[in-house]
Amino acid sequence: PPPMANDALQVVITAGPTREPLDPVRYLSNHSSGKMGFALAAAAAASGANVTLISGPVNLPTPRGVTRIDVESAAEMNAQAQRLATTAALFIGCAAVADYRAESAAAHKIKKRENSDTLTLTLVKNPDIIAGIAALPADQRPLVVGFAAETQDVEHYAREKLSRKGLDMIVANDVSSAELGFGSDDNAAWLLWRTPDGTDSEHQPAQSKTALANVIIQRALSLLPF
Ligand code: PMT
Repeated sequence: PPPMANDALQVVITAGPTREPLDPVRYLSNHSSGKMGFALAAAAAASGANVTLISGPVNLPTPRGVTRIDVESAAEMNAQAQRLATTAALFIGCAAVADYRAESAAAHKIKKRENSDTLTLTLVKNPDIIAGIAALPADQRPLVVGFAAETQDVEHYAREKLSRKGLDMIVANDVSSAELGFGSDDNAAWLLWRTPDGTDSEHQPAQSKTALANVIIQRALSLLPF
């Protein structure tokens, strides 16, 4: 939906990892630090937008002017994303959402078993947060930008995710090296976005996450229909 007259553009961004509880003291998660998503929130706020950042557990200060909502699990992140996305003009899913959670988190600490060397956990699929936002009815749907964390054939898998999840734009980063992607201060990416007659793409070489975030925000804003 377009912004109201004289009102700032509403932008919702997810960042960081999710934490999927196994029992009261343990969880499944990943190495996302939140740096890329927080840099996007800072860049969007600096460009004048009204930014809400839905963040998994990270150790980062909230960027100036940004409203932050802390969540833990994918289910909590999904609920906040669903609640906020229908009034946003732009939604960016930068969080590393766990694809699976434990079928049921144990109420008490899982005990080490003396009679077996293995422990089997049953995992069930989490909702695909960004695909849910992209599937909203047209009059409630923001422009949707996703990320793709790949370790090979980055552009190929990004193109596939752009179309399968129904996104308008995707930022595909190669997370196979330690200097880029998860946890690092720098990143490199392919940007792919839909055009009236197909897909355009642009490669962004290694640079600070702050610099890359500015490029991503400017590209995303240029795709808004107003
Ligand atoms: O946080 P940093 O340390 O700075 O690292 C940044 C990053 C590498 C985590 C970031 O740049 C990045 O790539 N984020 C997406 C990570 C990811 O989960 O990628 P994916 O290819 O598994 O997911 C594709 C897209 O679907 C993403 O937009 C993701 O937010 C979304 N998704 C995935 C699963 C799920 N259940 N729901 C989702 O919305």
